[in-house]
Amino acid sequence: RERLDTVKTIDDVLEQINKAKKILIITGAGISTSLGIPDFRSSKGFYSMVQHLGLSDPQEVFDLDIFHTDPSLFYSIAYMILPPEKIYSPLHSFITVLQKKGKLLRNYTQNIDNLESYAGVKAENLIQCHGSFATATCVTCKYQVKGEKIAPQIREKEIPYCPRCIKARKALLKKDDDAYIPESFGVFKPDITFFGEPLPKTFHDTIGKDLAECDLLISVGTSLKVAPVADIVDKVPESVPQILINKDPIDHCNFDVSLLGYCDDVASYLANRLGDSWALPHEDYDTIRGT
Ligand code: OAD
Repeated sequence: RERLDTVKTIDDVLEQINKAKKILIITGAGISTSLGIPDFRSSKGFYSMVQHLGLSDPQEVFDLDIFHTDPSLFYSIAYMILPPEKIYSPLHSFITVLQKKGKLLRNYTQNIDNLESYAGVKAENLIQCHGSFATATCVTCKYQVKGEKIAPQIREKEIPYCPRCIKARKALLKKDDDAYIPESFGVFKPDITFFGEPLPKTFHDTIGKDLAECDLLISVGTSLKVAPVADIVDKVPESVPQILINKDPIDHCNFDVSLLGYCDDVASYLANRLGDSWALPHEDYDTIRGT
């Protein structure tokens, strides 16, 4: 992709935001790090926190086959990514202001913390590309429960079992005490997308139409390393300006403008420059930044 001649500076970015009517925002773990939630690939990120497991690739903790063979691996670390509740960042607020202004086409988030919803991004404007902890499903009988039901066990690093399948397991063993019962029989799995699983249907239902319609792309707080979300950037029409807001540069994409820094700071700066009606509804910003 060739960069656009007309979108080069921060003033151009402000002009594009003012002009845009259908902004597609891609978000990743970096929009929640100011809340104390680790991202994945930074030096202190989640994948370095699970190094002690000695896996050949830390992403294996989210591997579907491994979960089915040995769910205890995932549940030994799942507590580390259990999302906090009732907080959101200034960047989350920035998305809600775009929504209030009628400019948000869709927020494609890779985050599983569900904090966009808490901040007020409406369900119809949000695609949780990698699912969320909001619900969990039994891998055997597909019984679905609210995430909060299994959160206490996750915190205790215990495997949560489906009450229905516990009965089925007992019945099986009663019939034949040598019966083969797989490790993951009746285990609840949070409805987050593991490697080896398809993305939620809403992603596939919506992305084609949104790619055709969007008039500005903003990517925030993601390393854009995981397909198919990472591929969105290559698929928007060439004429659509692409803006990056990220702590680190992203070299494998050709953004028109890269606003490098903490996304909360960049969002506050942009909101300030865009005018009073863009003020972020975020009273605690100074507290969160620790300033
Ligand atoms: P990564 O950890 O790969 O990337 C986070 C990006 O956010 C990095 O480029 C950081 O520089 C940047 N960042 C961190 N803090 C920031 C801040 N305060 N302001 C601005 N930028 C900041 O996380 P993701 O790209 O979200 O998948 O990872 C994508 C997927 O990989 C995740 O959804 C997860 C993981 O495997 C699943 O769990 C299925």
